[in-house]
Amino acid sequence: MNIKKIAEKFKNHFGSDCLIVRSPGRVNIIGEHTDYNEGFVLPAAIDKAAYVAIAKRQDNKVCLYAAAFDQSFETTLSNLTTSKLDWPNYILGVIDQIQKAGVQLSGFDLLIDGDIPIGAGLSSSAALECAALFAITELFGLQFSKMQMALMAQKAEHDFAGVNCGLMDMFASLFGKQGHAIKLDCRSLEYEYVPIDLKGYKLLLLNTNVKHTLSSSEYNNRRIECEQGVNWVKENIPTVNSLRDITLDMLDEHVLPMDNIVYNRCRYVVEENIRLTQACSDLANNNVVAMGEKMFETHKGLKDLYEVSCAELDFLVDQVKGHPAVLGARMMGGGFGGCTINIVKESEIENLVASIMPIYEKQMQRPLSYYVASIEDGTRVVFKNN
Ligand code: GLA
Repeated sequence: MNIKKIAEKFKNHFGSDCLIVRSPGRVNIIGEHTDYNEGFVLPAAIDKAAYVAIAKRQDNKVCLYAAAFDQSFETTLSNLTTSKLDWPNYILGVIDQIQKAGVQLSGFDLLIDGDIPIGAGLSSSAALECAALFAITELFGLQFSKMQMALMAQKAEHDFAGVNCGLMDMFASLFGKQGHAIKLDCRSLEYEYVPIDLKGYKLLLLNTNVKHTLSSSEYNNRRIECEQGVNWVKENIPTVNSLRDITLDMLDEHVLPMDNIVYNRCRYVVEENIRLTQACSDLANNNVVAMGEKMFETHKGLKDLYEVSCAELDFLVDQVKGHPAVLGARMMGGGFGGCTINIVKESEIENLVASIMPIYEKQMQRPLSYYVASIEDGTRVVFKNN
């Protein structure tokens, strides 16, 4: 996106100079629905981002403007009730977190822009929250660390968007590093950068164009089902606190006799943590083929055990399975729509997309879009005018 244009839009709308922060969307290579179960994830920040332009005001008003929708929203710092417009809530949520941390803010103007497709499972909302949080932190010279910001943005999503998400999306947006995925241990919050060298292959995102609207209620249900499984094991083995502490044998013994669905959910998560650990070894051994196979297995688990896929996602994964140019594919993110992530030979991407697109559009009666994602740096200031 053109940063100067964003600064111009800000000046035209609010009449002043601004500071601009860019915060990226994310992909997740493997490790899905593991973050809120104290497991591992392997996300990376991408070349699509949310932008927040900001400047102080002389009063206590918060004036928001979403450039893409040409919509405005105005409130005061002492009245942060949620808006029917949806997008302001992500900003109000982070203001609320900052105030709850004991910081007294004064009013500001804030413009939102960006190029992350909404509802595609690329974490446009987390990117927006992180951009706003980082921008406010910069503007007022606050002292939040990136990890504090990730946790605050997560809490904002819980409180103001009603999704009990894990930490992955915010963490990836803030901590992203060019050419690297990040292996995050969601229990200890320790992380390590993992170089991603796909040897002539690229990350291709195929967007079903199914907006994952069902996802917030179903997402929260999955979380509850996992907690139920943990509780059943804990009744027998009190030292267990999360699915991270639980083995497949424990599930067979203590959860399977109780409920089949809860067992399936838990089994998927336990297996996914094992797959992620193995996939990291595959990457370290330059074995992208083996890693790709694990992505297909992840998809199967998300479809059959965790049940967060949908017909369109399954169709896209089936289409590329066995294709000589594709090493791995799976649905990505919360599920029920959004994108699949595919590891595809760079020289074959155009051909692959050209062959799938007409079949998808005919069968599913909706457009297919695609992005070749490159892995970029995380949240940062990209423009300062004074
Ligand atoms: C959404 C959530 C994340 C994570 C993924 C599934 O993107 O926001 O916290 O749980 O789903 O892995």
